[in-house]
Amino acid sequence: MKKSITFTDNRNGKSVEFPILEPSLGADVVDIRTLYKEMGIFTYDPGFSATASCSSDITFIDGGKGELLYRGYPIEELAENSNYLDVCYLILNGELPQKNSYDKMNDYIKSEYLLHEGLKNLFNAFQDNAHPMATLTSTVAALSSFHFEHLDIDNEAEYREMAYKIVAKIPTIAAYSYRHSHGLPLIYPDMDRYFTKNFLYMMRAKPNGKANIDDVEMRALDTIFSLHADHEQNASTSTVRAVASTGAHPYAAISAGIGALWGRAHGGANESVISQLEMIGDVKNVEKFIKKAKDPNDSFRLMGFGHRVYKNFDPRAKVLKKLRDELKGKVEIDDKISKIADRVEEIALSDDYFIKRNLYPNIDFYSGTILTALQIPKDMFTPIFVIGRTIGWIAQWIELKKDREAKIARPRQLYTGKKRRHIK
Ligand code: ACO
Repeated sequence: MKKSITFTDNRNGKSVEFPILEPSLGADVVDIRTLYKEMGIFTYDPGFSATASCSSDITFIDGGKGELLYRGYPIEELAENSNYLDVCYLILNGELPQKNSYDKMNDYIKSEYLLHEGLKNLFNAFQDNAHPMATLTSTVAALSSFHFEHLDIDNEAEYREMAYKIVAKIPTIAAYSYRHSHGLPLIYPDMDRYFTKNFLYMMRAKPNGKANIDDVEMRALDTIFSLHADHEQNASTSTVRAVASTGAHPYAAISAGIGALWGRAHGGANESVISQLEMIGDVKNVEKFIKKAKDPNDSFRLMGFGHRVYKNFDPRAKVLKKLRDELKGKVEIDDKISKIADRVEEIALSDDYFIKRNLYPNIDFYSGTILTALQIPKDMFTPIFVIGRTIGWIAQWIELKKDREAKIARPRQLYTGKKRRHIK
């Protein structure tokens, strides 16, 4: 029997039945597409906390359990057994790759690391001290002008090529953005190196091409990329989908997603977490800052805590905490910052304010400590998130493109302005 729900309008007694859509996992969803037509009303849901904006088979989150699955596989298993390019293949194609398909994808991505020389010139136009996120979002928008003629966004073979191209080029743009903002000469990608190793190379290489990159560091960063690869309909992905729904070029949609990610409430939190831990400065100051975070009259928030969907430990944070502990002794983990972070976590997790509101550490709480140990400067933390998330954005772009029920993103509003009036 098909499930449904009946809404009754107390103003006129009219009842209307609405179908319930059953997901493969998670909460049922009421299909209210005919609500306005049937009942003449809209729903009010600022921030879309109770609204499914699309159907998707890429990523599943159980916020209550603290579970995250990519195409059905738990994030912990992927972090343990797969590299970032396996995860990219999985997210884009639905299955983990066989050796042949992995090699083909890897070769293609390597061949696409390079940017058009014209695009490289763009970096000269940015201020020396530009934040890498500003440079990144602008350059990715500009990338659409370099890849327009040759790629038909309505042809599946061509837009898949476009997907791999953007995954390949984002690390180069991010590394150029960093080097430009630090007055360093731009380093061409090394097309023989694996994705993550090449990124570290572009970040670190001296003009003579020398760079020390330890495998432990490479694997840690690779795991960070995998953990960020997709996260269903978060703010930046919803932005990508909203722009995509108008038929815009996918790179323009991704540039908009990068803009959305930059904010402190979203991907920008990883940079803010480290700044905040540095500001706390000492384990003995932690309680004072927790008090500030709890004060309703103070806008201070504990960065790296809380999540719209997770009402339990963010599983990605668990993987990162374990990774941080494993890295101790192998790379230079800032012990002072780690101790402050552990104390913040300890106090917050036993405090009524945080318990009642289900505020747990999220992915950004630990990523900064590890990235600092990998000699990644703070202003590159959010660009690192961008590199990892690009595959998720482009896979969601493709999913939307194929979705026959997709429509232009065009929500309604609760108008609270003046009623009709006249000048005279
Ligand atoms: N510190 C202190 N209080 C908090 C925090 C926090 N980090 N997060 C939420 N709260 C409180 C709010 O003040 C509110 O309290 P109230 O009910 O007394 O008014 C309650 O918890 C609910 O908070 P909302 O802002 O309504 O929750 P929402 O789901 O809209 O926001 C968000 C989620 C934006 C992540 C929020 O928890 C936050 O700002 N966290 C800090 C920033 C952060 O770490 N962002 C990264 C998120 S993960 C990611 O995007 C990769």
